[in-house]
Formats: sequence, structure tokens, C-alpha cells
Amino acid sequence: MRILFIGDIFGRPGRNIVQEKLASLVRTHSIDLIIANGENSAAGFGITGQIAEELFDLGAHVLTTGNHVWDKREIIDYLGSVPSESHDRPRRIVRPANYPAGTPGFGLYEGTLPSGVPYAVLNLQGRVFMQSNDDPFRTADRLLAGVRAKVILVDFHAEATSEKMALGWYLDGRVTAVLGTHTHVPTADERVLPNGTAYQTDVGMSGPYDSVIGVEKELVLQRFLSGMPGKFEPARGDARLCALLIEADATTGRATSVQRLMLGE
Ligand SMILES: [Fe+2]
Ligand SMILES: [Fe+2]
Repeated sequence: MRILFIGDIFGRPGRNIVQEKLASLVRTHSIDLIIANGENSAAGFGITGQIAEELFDLGAHVLTTGNHVWDKREIIDYLGSVPSESHDRPRRIVRPANYPAGTPGFGLYEGTLPSGVPYAVLNLQGRVFMQSNDDPFRTADRLLAGVRAKVILVDFHAEATSEKMALGWYLDGRVTAVLGTHTHVPTADERVLPNGTAYQTDVGMSGPYDSVIGVEKELVLQRFLSGMPGKFEPARGDARLCALLIEADATTGRATSVQRLMLGE
């Protein structure tokens, strides 16, 4: 089977390039399962129910998030509108599983493809250079113990390459893929680890690359130069879609090959 994981979709430029490219990608590569990180899909900051619906309409099966998940507060009600056992769209958005107990939403989703293949998506957030949360390594152990699916994708939303790589090795052979998000810069280290786990330190942003990680570059520069707060606006130019295409054995859940994609307008 083939799985497409799309990195942080940033604002309208990110949504547009995904809309423009996804259908032909799915056709060309016979993609069965699509996961996308949507934490920046609403003007660069957060996600709304309406934008989530848009991304589901384009074909995403599950949306992952990260530290920006609560930037648009309305998402709290959207996530809270379904019980744990639901398979409706709000349940197919996950936020990092190692957030404090009682946080709205869920960190793990388990579903079944129309072909009958069960799959799971786990979202975790790093702790290095980020706000403190529960241990992502132990959270993965605890949640994976209850997962029946063999095909398991982990979105590790983290800053430090070392922490991401460490989780890749930690979960090698236990999940189909450990894919990094959050830095918005794709890394050239995609590979299949020895025990069958696909790995990439960061899948990279799907959004405007004429920017500083998605934001209008003049505004970011001004903040660095002046040290003064200022409003960040999403940039517009040079939209690209960044994703990792994973080939995996649907029965064992082992990844067999990976291909890094970067598609421009
Ligand atoms: Fe992001
Ligand atoms: Fe992030």
C-alpha cells in the first residue's frame, strides 16, 4: 500500500497547492492513505472546523497538528463534538497525545480503509526547545500497547533533530513511519530504518517558500532587527507541496521504500 504524509500546510497558499496537486498525486502513485499536518492551515496559525472539512474534502484521511493547534479557539468545540469511539471528521483530527490529561481532543486515531486495512495515526510533540509536556517516548509506549493496526503513522511535532531521530530509532520496527513536522524545512534524510520504520526528520512545510517558515519575510526580519513584537502575516509566493510517499506492506505494517516529494506551482 502507499501512504502520503503531507507536512505542515501553511495558510491559503498551502491549501491551494495541496488542492492543485493532490488528486494527480493520488492517481499517479495509487495512494491509499493520506495524512496531513494542519496546524498552520488557517492563515498560518491554527485550524478551524471549516478548513479541516476542506482538507478532508480534498481526500485527507487524518489531520495531525502540533503547538499551534489552539490558535483558533473554535477548534476546541469542533474537536469536542465527538466521542472517542467516533469516526466522524472531528475525531480524525489529532493533537499531540502527550499534552496534559484532560486536554480537549485525542492524540491517537484508529480507522479502517475501504480496502479493510486497519491503520492508526499517533501525534506527539517534542520537549526540547518547546513547552514542557509529558514524555513522548513513554506516551508512545503506552498508546501503542493498545493499538491493533499494523499500519501506524507517527507525526512527531518537534524542534530538535536529535529528539526526532531518537524517537525514530526508539520506534523502529514498532510503527510504519516516524515523521517529523514543525520546523517547516524538509530534511534530506528520508530512509527506511533497519526494522522497517520509514523516517524523515522533517517532512517540510506545504506553503509559501518565499518566506521565513511561511511568514512574510519582512515582518520576521523586522522582529529580529528590532526585538519588538509585531503581527505576523502569511507570505504568498513560491508555494510548494512537501510530502513523503511511503510504500508499506499492509499486512506487516513494515515500510519498504520512501520517496521525498517537493512540488512547485
Ligand atoms: Fe507548523
Ligand atoms: Fe509547530
